[in-house]
Amino acid sequence: MIDTLDVFSSAHSFKEEDLRDKTVVMIDVLRACSTMVTALHNGAKGVIAVGDMDEASKISRNLDSKSFLLSGEKDGIKIDGYSLTNSPLEHTEDVVAGKTVILNTTNGTKAIKRSNHADDIIIGSFLNLSAIVDHLRKIDKEIVLVCAGWRGRLSFEDLLCAGNIIYELCSGELPNSARDGTKVAFGLYDKFADDIENSIKSSNYAVRLDGIVCEEDISYCCQRSILQVLPVLNQGIISDSNGKEQ
Ligand code: MLT
Repeated sequence: MIDTLDVFSSAHSFKEEDLRDKTVVMIDVLRACSTMVTALHNGAKGVIAVGDMDEASKISRNLDSKSFLLSGEKDGIKIDGYSLTNSPLEHTEDVVAGKTVILNTTNGTKAIKRSNHADDIIIGSFLNLSAIVDHLRKIDKEIVLVCAGWRGRLSFEDLLCAGNIIYELCSGELPNSARDGTKVAFGLYDKFADDIENSIKSSNYAVRLDGIVCEEDISYCCQRSILQVLPVLNQGIISDSNGKEQ
């Protein structure tokens, strides 16, 4: 499985055919995927990842106003008229239980839309890392780890999380036959494994959004395998399929 696994370092680094017939794990540690995982863990009915504000308003117009929440950010800042920002810590049980969260973010949700040629899309983060790894061990499709990145560029924290997934899948022993992207992600994880939180706190994201995104959000998103959620995209809605696999 590791021999055929591939890693793309940003949502702009692949073509449609790179994902066709494959299982994609979409990774946006800060913060879109961590927020989706948290919302589902806290009882959200589903998450709809949208590409822009127009799409969010079109979808919301067809829903009962009590059944959904609009969440998201533009450059880290809450969007006018939305109920929540893209902070996982705002997606508490009190707020999201039973609701559909319509999520609109700068990179993560757009990356999901761009990956729609994949056979399956699973949402990955440090928070649900062991649920992802357990699932990937059971499937026999080719796997692609897509790091959402930032505006077409690589993001340290996403590649680090991809490396952690690979490290677990190969029990720390990467075969020489692994692909280049897999080796790079594995090597990054190997270097920073003991210092995940501090290394992410000095990443470009943390510097860029210093004073906009709170430090608690970053610390929260750096926790590993605390939520057993396996978010899977099905007919436009991301929901938790853990325990519901066949
Ligand atoms: C994104 O999708 O760009 C991020 O989730 C931004 C953020 O952390 O709000």
